[in-house]
Amino acid sequence: MSLFRKKSLDELLSSSKKQQLNRVLGPLDLTMLGIGAIIGTGIFVLTGVAAAEHAGPALVLSFIIAGLACVFAALCYAEFASTVPIAGSVYSYSYFTLGEVVAWLIGWDLILEYGLAVSAVGVGWSGYFQNLLAGFGLKLPAALTGAPGSAPGAVFNLPAFLIILLITWLLSRGIRESARVNNIMVFVKVAVVLVFIAVGVWYVKPANWTPFMPFGFGGVMTGAATIFFAYLGFDAVSTAAEEVKNPRKDLPIGIIGSLAICTFLYIVVSAILTGIVPYNQLNVAAPVAYAMNVIGQNWFAGLISLGAITGMTTVLLVMLYGQVRLFFAMSRDGLIPTVFSKVHPAYKTPYTSTWVTGLACATISALVPLGTLAHLVNIGTLTAFVLVSVAVLILRKTHPNVPRAFTCPAVPLVPILAIFFCGYLMISLPLVTWKMFVAWLAIGVGVYAVYGRSHSLLAKGAENKAEISV
Ligand code: ALA
Repeated sequence: MSLFRKKSLDELLSSSKKQQLNRVLGPLDLTMLGIGAIIGTGIFVLTGVAAAEHAGPALVLSFIIAGLACVFAALCYAEFASTVPIAGSVYSYSYFTLGEVVAWLIGWDLILEYGLAVSAVGVGWSGYFQNLLAGFGLKLPAALTGAPGSAPGAVFNLPAFLIILLITWLLSRGIRESARVNNIMVFVKVAVVLVFIAVGVWYVKPANWTPFMPFGFGGVMTGAATIFFAYLGFDAVSTAAEEVKNPRKDLPIGIIGSLAICTFLYIVVSAILTGIVPYNQLNVAAPVAYAMNVIGQNWFAGLISLGAITGMTTVLLVMLYGQVRLFFAMSRDGLIPTVFSKVHPAYKTPYTSTWVTGLACATISALVPLGTLAHLVNIGTLTAFVLVSVAVLILRKTHPNVPRAFTCPAVPLVPILAIFFCGYLMISLPLVTWKMFVAWLAIGVGVYAVYGRSHSLLAKGAENKAEISV
C-alpha cells in the first residue's frame, strides 16, 4: 500500500512555502523562457529528415498534428500549474493524484525529457558551431569534434562539453541573470525565424508541394512523432513555479503564450521550407540554412546558422534549468539525496545541484553520439503529457472545489484529446525506442527500491503539516 502513498494538497503546497528560491520572474520572462526552450534543434535540424524521409511537403500537417497534441497538453499543464505552482511540475502533480511510486517514475521519466535533451541539443549545437568555424577556415582536431564512433578519429565532443558548462555556470549564478540572457537570445532567434519567413515567402514554388503526401498518412504521423521534439519545452515553464512573482496567473500565460507563438511560426516555416526546396533534397544537417543557399541568399544562410546556434543555446539553458528544478523538488521530498535541494545563500540557486547536473549532461553530450536519441526524449515527454492530462481528470474528481486560477476548457474532452493525440504519437515511435524506454523505467524502479522508498520524507512522516487552507 505504502508504494501508493499520496501527498495531500496541503503537504504539497507547504513544501514550496519552505523554499528559498528568488521570486523574480514575470509573465513576459516566462513566455520568453518557453520560447527559449522550444525553438531549437527541432525546427533548425529535424525538419529536414522529417520532410525528406517521412512526411514530404505534408510536413506542415505533421507540425499541425504535433502542435495540436501539445496545445491540448498545454491546457492541462496550465490548469495544474495555476492550481499547484510547485517546481516539480508533473512529478509533483502526480505525487498527490497518483501516489509516490508513479510520481517517482514520472520524475525519473522526465530526466529523459530535460537531462537527455540537454545532452542531445549540446551535440546539435556543436555541429552548427563547427560549421560556423569552418566558414572562417578553422577546424578542430578530429579527436575533439565528436563522441567516439560519431566521426573518424573522434573521441570527445569538446564544443558540446564546453557550451553546457558555460550554461551551467550562468544558471548557477542566479535566475535573474539567466532570464536576462535568455530574453536577449530569444529575441535574436525569433528575429532570424521571421527573416527566414520574410525572405523565403517570395521564393515559394507551389509545384514543390506536389505530391503532397509521398509517404502516405503513416509518414505524416511518423513525421509528427519526430518533429514533436521541436515543440517540447513549453512545459519547462511550469518548473519555474517557485521563482515567479505571481505564479497562479502568470504560469498559464507563459505556457500557452509561448506554445501559441511557436506553433504559428513552425507551421509557416515548414510550409515555406517545403515550398522553396523539393522535399527529397532536405535531408541535410542544416535544412533551414540550406534553403537560403538554394535560393542564392548565402548571406541569409549565414544569419540563419547564427540564429540556430543562439536558439539551441537557450534550449540548453531552459532545459538544464528545468532538470535542476525537478531534482530540487524530488530531493525536497527525500526521493533523491538532499544535496540536490541545497540553495546557495547568495545566488539563491540550487548551486551544487546545478553543477552536478550540468557536468553529467556535458559528459554524456561529449561521449555519447546522441543523434538518434531524440526519439527517447520524445517518448519521455509524451508520457509526461499523458500523465498530466490524466491527473487533471483525477483532480477534477477528487478536488472539485480547489481554487484554480486557470481552468482547462471543455473537460473531459480536452484532456482526453491530449491523451489520444499523445498516445497516438507514442505508438508511432520505433520499437527500439520503446525497448530503451522500458529499460530506463526498470532502472528507475530499482533506484526507488534501493533509495527512494526508505528515504521518502512522506514515508517517514517528517513533513510538517501546512496551515494553507484549500
Ligand atoms: N524544442 C527543443 C528543440 O527543438 C527541445 O531544440
